[in-house]
Amino acid sequence: MIGLFDSGVGGLSVLKAIINNGISDDFIYFGDTKNVPYGTKTKDEILSYTKDIMEFFIKKGADCAIMACNTSSALVYEELRNQFSDKIRIYPLIQFAAPCFKDENQTIGVMATAATVKSLAYTKEIQKINPKCNVIEQECQKFVEIVEKRLYEDISSLNYIKEKIEYFKKAGCKKVILGCTHFPYLVPVFKKYTADIEFIDPAELLIKSIKSELVSRSSGKTSFKFYVSKDPENFKQSGSMFFDIEEDVNLAEFLKV
Ligand code: DGL
Repeated sequence: MIGLFDSGVGGLSVLKAIINNGISDDFIYFGDTKNVPYGTKTKDEILSYTKDIMEFFIKKGADCAIMACNTSSALVYEELRNQFSDKIRIYPLIQFAAPCFKDENQTIGVMATAATVKSLAYTKEIQKINPKCNVIEQECQKFVEIVEKRLYEDISSLNYIKEKIEYFKKAGCKKVILGCTHFPYLVPVFKKYTADIEFIDPAELLIKSIKSELVSRSSGKTSFKFYVSKDPENFKQSGSMFFDIEEDVNLAEFLKV
């Protein structure tokens, strides 16, 4: 069983990419809707939330966890790996996606949450393998709320999105990494403001690098279980715009007193 987690519906973009790549398994998804957004939280807070999520996955029988959240990949991957790697194999997004830029010679843009940008995790991971690569990071924290609350059509959302895209255009970026799993949903809106930026989903790069592992462990059957820490109905409504959620969305047992 593979666990995927995020602060909310964002990680469903990773689950979707996995399914679209033809990978079958038993999937358990956890959206930490009580604590969304992660991008404005401290490292200690995120560590405490994600430790509970790992325990929950292990209890449910998952042997593999995909961190479908850039913010926690940036801030707490190492701590989770040190504590849980004997019980569950953990795949972080950024660390698996960054090596794909090893031969890149143009400026790469990164749009991400406040915490991810502050950590400079993308810049550090890319430059580990390609020291000369120029990386420009920009915080786009409000995109998370726009997706969680379905505010895509509000004028203020559109103005905010436009301003963020203009920044990458002015910086001359032709490739921009969607450094938060909520952001792939907004690509059609981004494209209204730019025709020549390629938006790169790190989930695709992660899958490319671990596809053979995922295929070799597959039983050939697929099932889904969805859990949240608050408001299952809102999760189902927002999430269903991007992923076909036929199953019930449940409140995770460890949160029930
Ligand atoms: N979707 C998450 C990420 O990839 C977290 C967004 C948030 O909750 O701020 O970073």
